[in-house]
Amino acid sequence: MAVRVNQFADWKQQGQPVAVLTAWDYMSGQMADQAGADMILVGDSLAMVALGYNNTLPLTLDDMLHHAKAVRRGVKHALLAVDLPFLSFQISEAEAMRSAGRLLKEAGAQAVKLEGGYPRMAATIQRLVEAGIPVVGHVGLTPQSVNQVGGFQKQGKSPEAADRILQEAIAIEKAGAFAIVLEHIPSKLAKTITATLSITTIGIGAGQFCDGQVLVTADVLGLSDWQPPFAKRYAELRNQGIQAAKAFCDEVRSLQFPE
Ligand code: KIV
Repeated sequence: MAVRVNQFADWKQQGQPVAVLTAWDYMSGQMADQAGADMILVGDSLAMVALGYNNTLPLTLDDMLHHAKAVRRGVKHALLAVDLPFLSFQISEAEAMRSAGRLLKEAGAQAVKLEGGYPRMAATIQRLVEAGIPVVGHVGLTPQSVNQVGGFQKQGKSPEAADRILQEAIAIEKAGAFAIVLEHIPSKLAKTITATLSITTIGIGAGQFCDGQVLVTADVLGLSDWQPPFAKRYAELRNQGIQAAKAFCDEVRSLQFPE
């Protein structure tokens, strides 16, 4: 049975952990889906993973649509959520509606994710949810604010910063999001947020006390040439890929390529 948004509340109540992986094209979507991920996120991390940018800011809505459509064709079981890229939702609620609407209508997304929990963003989330668009929030380290934050460091370390993130998470729940990503915050804070909220918390670099975990699939597979310190590699496919490609080149050059 394909995963639906309303299952997340049941899983939270039952204490059933949620596994989320990212995808950026047909094959990565298919692999994550066949591995049994509950949710597949076409994250804007694809700006780095698939497009070679230094951060997520250059990614456009059209870029995202192109990738999300390919992932959609590979995903049969998991819930498909797609990130709203930088400046496709911050300008106004109307802009957010238009952008999110395109992700649902053109790419077959079943939910959108957007960064930030400050009051105006909570109002945007409420507007999207009222229009029937399921939303995943995202607080803590929000990579689209890299220039303001000054890097990708852990957030919420002081009591004041921790309280602000907790309040943002509460506002996002009140606005109607069905899940929230907690990125790169202290495990203790993630535990408090998870105990406070009735919606699903999905951690990345936020310790074990979340309702679920997400990782960037390129990191999981060991494909990335850089990854954050909290991302565990479960394979070394980059090295294997280079070795395989090198073996091919060697065979061709030494006239060993089979008939
Ligand atoms: O873009 C992304 O891949 C994300 C995850 C890190 C949660 O937002």
